[in-house]
Amino acid sequence: MFDVEVIRKDFPILSRQVHGVPLVYLDSANTSQKPQVVLDSLTDYYTSHNANVARAVHTLGSEATMLFEGARDKVAGFINAPRRDEVIFTKNSSEALNLVAYTLSNATSTPGAERFRVGPGDNIVVTEMEHHSNIVPWQLLAQRTGAEFRYIPIDDEGRLVDSLIDERVDDRTKVLAFVHQSNALGTVNNVERLVTRAKAVGALSVIDASQSAPHRPLDVQSLGADFVAFTGHKLYGPTGVGVLWGRYELLADLPPFLGGGEMIETVDMSGTTFAAPPHRFEAGTPMIAEAVGLGTAIDYLTAIGMDQVQAHEAQLTAYALDALAQVPALRVIGPSTPVDRGATISFTIKGIHPHDVSQLLDEQGIAVRAGHHCARPVCLRYGIPATTRASFGIYTTTSEIDALVAGVIKVQEMFS
Ligand code: ALA
Repeated sequence: MFDVEVIRKDFPILSRQVHGVPLVYLDSANTSQKPQVVLDSLTDYYTSHNANVARAVHTLGSEATMLFEGARDKVAGFINAPRRDEVIFTKNSSEALNLVAYTLSNATSTPGAERFRVGPGDNIVVTEMEHHSNIVPWQLLAQRTGAEFRYIPIDDEGRLVDSLIDERVDDRTKVLAFVHQSNALGTVNNVERLVTRAKAVGALSVIDASQSAPHRPLDVQSLGADFVAFTGHKLYGPTGVGVLWGRYELLADLPPFLGGGEMIETVDMSGTTFAAPPHRFEAGTPMIAEAVGLGTAIDYLTAIGMDQVQAHEAQLTAYALDALAQVPALRVIGPSTPVDRGATISFTIKGIHPHDVSQLLDEQGIAVRAGHHCARPVCLRYGIPATTRASFGIYTTTSEIDALVAGVIKVQEMFS
């Protein structure tokens, strides 16, 4: 039975005060807060098990390796990966997406990698609602290879223009990269529609699941894409760890991303052969404690149940959309109904800059984000400089949404 008040007690930071009033944390899309069990697992790792992984044969080395590889097993289970060696630890989602983009342009001479080659005449497609981390790596790949960079536009409600998908994704498309849930709009995209189109034209499909993994069950087998990226710090885990999941048969033929320790099979001065996935893509000492902490966050979420998390946040989203609709001069940027949308709500208030809204809410203890949310093309699409964004998590309550609405009305009164 999901009980938000019980869950809140697991997050020590939620009981602190800001400017003398209780914290109302509505910035979970930016980063989530961490439950005590995650904090404890970081301390326990460094206190009792710290050593480097896959190198030392001593007891601490094997304990650290077991904990690190155990975290990989937990991630694989959480996303229903068919194989544990399809899970690559990265620094964050940005690094995971760059890993795919760079390995594609490294695919010049490695045996088996020719099928990944991108060049002039090919195109790479993203959507207009992407975070910069799912735009810039692809623009750079296009620059390196001479391929064309394209995007699928969004409509006034913040949905993809479906009628343009088949035109933009054509038989010269090598990659279709898209966000599962938009960090700026809250829109949840129709993965099946996009992946089916990518498959029909023989393109690789890449999903940025940074904003969906914390909020709904994520099953890479049912998503059907070739690569899925997400980050640990939005998933109630530590910063500094992210995940790239990829189909093994693709990873097996892709060349490395970064070179260094632990990604090799053998090295001599005439050349190097490379380790099998996932280690081929994990050069150097990895983020051991952070991966362990992410594994603990996954245990924590699994015990609650991602279905329960999704149901709780769906209810919050519907409640917040209704409540915000009552505020005069407030415009939601993104879907105005709770259908196919997540618990992230961006808005503008006529006559007041989003940064002022955010700052004046902070003075009332309410933490929201203002800006373009690293998705500047979304703001350009709607002709606005920025939005104020409230985003929810497992610990968010309807009374916090009431506080947001009251806070926004107070800000309006200050300006009137
Ligand atoms: N941290 C970024 C956000 O706030 C991705 O949406």
